[in-house]
Amino acid sequence: MTITHGELLYEGKAKRIFACQDPQQVLVEFKNDATAFNAQKKAQLENKGRLNCLISACLFELLERHEIPTHYLGVSDDTWMVVQRVDVIPIEVVLRNTAAGSLCRETPISQGTALDPALLDLYYKDDDFGDPLLTDARIALLGVVSFELRQRMEDLVRRVNAVLLPFFKDLGLQLVDFKLEMGLNQAGELLVADEISPDTCRFWDINCADANERILDKDRFRKDLGGVIEAYGEVCKRVQGACPQPRNCR
Ligand code: TMP
Repeated sequence: MTITHGELLYEGKAKRIFACQDPQQVLVEFKNDATAFNAQKKAQLENKGRLNCLISACLFELLERHEIPTHYLGVSDDTWMVVQRVDVIPIEVVLRNTAAGSLCRETPISQGTALDPALLDLYYKDDDFGDPLLTDARIALLGVVSFELRQRMEDLVRRVNAVLLPFFKDLGLQLVDFKLEMGLNQAGELLVADEISPDTCRFWDINCADANERILDKDRFRKDLGGVIEAYGEVCKRVQGACPQPRNCR
């Protein structure tokens, strides 16, 4: 299907954003490009765009059913999503339920340690600086968000976790950690934006004891474990089994 869209507004590593007729909306195209380590590692993974679009759509609709505001409006085709236009806040919020990834590289905490309460880390969204970890003092110095907006962002991420953690547990998936981006719409509402997919979350298969085999997310690509698309497909199959078919916007 050919999608009618306006000008390309922005191209990121995994998505392209296009204008559409309604100035309050934009069209998001999910690409098959996979990148890691600030795009030092790159590949094309057939079907990744479709799987991430579908998984994200189901999860945005799940959040919506729990009255969590998101930018999502609907899907337009396999790899296209219609969303509200937002001003994306240049802070990536990572919520960690279980220690993995950079937390274990940068501290003596062992992989798999349960983090209760979940650890919330904020990163400055800027590829030129490699998305550095922020401190309270740096946030104040940079002036990227007010104290009040930051509180609202953190509350929103914890509410998202409270929905996603038990949802994935029921699917036999441990939600190890995830990254969210947020934005403000024209009305000044804070919305969950970007995507929620195996590119931006860590999922471990609860019924698999092997530390590598249980990985069902982008770590398969980061660590050269193979079977990346098969893992994304497995997550998609489980999510779709628990969610209605995402609504079509056009
Ligand atoms: P980290 O352990 O590498 O800091 O990653 C934490 C979570 O954030 C993990 O679920 C992967 C996700 N993430 C992104 O979505 N984009 C990124 O650029 C990075 C580094 C991590």
